[in-house]
Amino acid sequence: MARKKARIISVANEKGGVGKTVTVINLAAGLSQRGKNVLVVDMDPQMNTTKGLGLSAREDGLSVYDVIKLQDPVPAQSVVSHTAWEHLDLLPSHVDLSGFEIEVANKLGRENRLRKALAPMVNLYDFVLLDTPPSLSLVTVNVLAFTTEVLIPCQTQPFAYAAMDELLETISVIKEEINQNIKIMGVVATFYDQRTRVSNKILADLRADKRFKEKLFSTVIRVNTTIAESADHGMPIVFFRRSSTGARDYLALADEILA
Ligand SMILES: Nc1ncnc2c1ncn2[C@@H]1O[C@H](COP(=O)(O)OP(=O)(O)OP(=O)(O)O)[C@@H](O)[C@H]1O
Ligand SMILES: [Mg+2]
Repeated sequence: MARKKARIISVANEKGGVGKTVTVINLAAGLSQRGKNVLVVDMDPQMNTTKGLGLSAREDGLSVYDVIKLQDPVPAQSVVSHTAWEHLDLLPSHVDLSGFEIEVANKLGRENRLRKALAPMVNLYDFVLLDTPPSLSLVTVNVLAFTTEVLIPCQTQPFAYAAMDELLETISVIKEEINQNIKIMGVVATFYDQRTRVSNKILADLRADKRFKEKLFSTVIRVNTTIAESADHGMPIVFFRRSSTGARDYLALADEILA
């Protein structure tokens, strides 16, 4: 296989429920539909990304936790699971991941466990997409230490927009202290509802915000109940119902990223 160098993109926002997981699942599916080889890494012990891609805990019990743990870690290659779809692989999560923080708390190099463990994967894929939990835990710090690009979903709701200040601060601290290669890839507005005044106002605020300017994706992810429905069926929306607005929005986002 020709050697590649994947773009390493983490989808992050310390605010919960803004569409991180759905963005990882559906952007990954969109990119795979465009012929790109994609590895999804589920770094949230809630396992929503794993389930949303139709998988559950592996029979051998291995997960990304086993790749980054201190005692007898296993090579990432042996934990990669194939999804039902071409070009779309997953490093699944596990509830065990919630113990990582305590386990490595005082250990030297604790921020770089993931970066080291996934280094061999970077040459095998076009994209590595990582989902993060809604907190600045050591798991999230490990993701940001490995990442070169951060994709930020921002819900078109006032509290979500206000929380962006904190997130940008976090990323700049990470850049200063841990990973000088990290950059903000872009901000994508999510849960947009054309009918509501608040949604339109926040979208206008985002578009006028000088901090984002060219970094705000022109693609906007609209509210679409089929998105939640597809997650419940363990299928990315582009495979579940291609004609839905959710599928069209996420394919448009994938195309904007590839352009
Ligand atoms: N555009 C959308 N339209 C309708 N429902 C959506 C949309 N995006 C996400 N959802 C639903 O909203 C909920 C939260 O989305 P998601 O799990 O992706 O957020 P999250 O940021 O990953 O949350 P957490 O911080 O808890 O990990 C889910 O039930 C999801 O199916
Ligand atoms: Mg999530």
